[in-house]
Amino acid sequence: MIQKLTITAPDDLHLHIRDEAMMQLVLPHSAAQFRRATVMPNLKPPVTTTELALAYRNRIANALPTGTAFTPLIPLYLTDKTTGAEVRKAYESGVSRAMKYYPAGATTNSDSAVTKIENIREAIDVMIELGMPLLIHGEVTDPAVDFFDRESRFIDEMLDPLHRAVPDLKIVLEHISTKHAAEYITAASRTLAATITPHHIALNRNALFAGGINPHNFCFPILKSEDDRLAVLAAATSGNPKFFLGTDSAPHGRSNKERTGGFGGLYSAFAALPMYAELFERENALDKLEPFASFYGADFYGIERNRDTVTLIKEPLTIPDYFEVDGDQLVPMRAGDTISWRMA
Ligand code: NCD
Ligand code: ZN
Repeated sequence: MIQKLTITAPDDLHLHIRDEAMMQLVLPHSAAQFRRATVMPNLKPPVTTTELALAYRNRIANALPTGTAFTPLIPLYLTDKTTGAEVRKAYESGVSRAMKYYPAGATTNSDSAVTKIENIREAIDVMIELGMPLLIHGEVTDPAVDFFDRESRFIDEMLDPLHRAVPDLKIVLEHISTKHAAEYITAASRTLAATITPHHIALNRNALFAGGINPHNFCFPILKSEDDRLAVLAAATSGNPKFFLGTDSAPHGRSNKERTGGFGGLYSAFAALPMYAELFERENALDKLEPFASFYGADFYGIERNRDTVTLIKEPLTIPDYFEVDGDQLVPMRAGDTISWRMA
């Protein structure tokens, strides 16, 4: 049995680091496992320009423990007003290697997002020219649509028409949660890919209710059925280069999780890579972890693979019940559980 696993240093291609005290807490966790990350721009106010992205990148650099190699890639948060020139500027400054599309109202802090995809047509043309992927939060926001159908409806009504209209645009459907998404991405052309989180392959929607309602497992897209979980897990462990790692680790303090109107998001970054390793090992697919975590995402983005390595060891790791942050607490995914891998 494998007791030690050394792989090319991985990238987390969908991560929320936030700002200030929360960033001070969570950034070292990600930096201890990942060499680069696509750091999401849904701050308040959102990171909509190159200037704001560069300022955020500086704040991240200042919060990094000294001597840590960790490069944040910050997609601009597209709005109805994002110009092609701004996309080019972000690319040329090196701060962005992708752009982020949230449908207005889909998730935490998405109020200023794109209302109609036609409004970002100019940005899309520049992205095609530069080979930059569009990262999509794929959920419709119509309140009449069943919450659990938001992703499937988005694929059929928004993503598929968009992909047909601009087949040369690279698109990453972020944090897929359904069998429909796994099948759609598998069947689509090479310009479509998807990120997969640890929670959507570890948990199904029972985790929202088992033992009483559990807001810590509430996230966007919401956890789905066991059938869906198995299909997404099969995609992650398949060795298909269209599927790669993006944790969507999304920390919120306990006070914002355990209340009416509480926020969506699981904090998985504390032990994300060990959790993926445990899940892949259970599927007899530990050999697929390195390409999923370290190759396919970089290849799809068109950035170089990392050259150094990280090592995982098969030893029990107990996830803390919570972390203290700014007079509040952050409850991580699988709080209090013991998992079977840890970083060396
Ligand atoms: C994210 C957050 O909290 O920023 N929440 C989540 O449940 N995934 C937003 C997002 O990525 O949709
Ligand atoms: Zn996210």
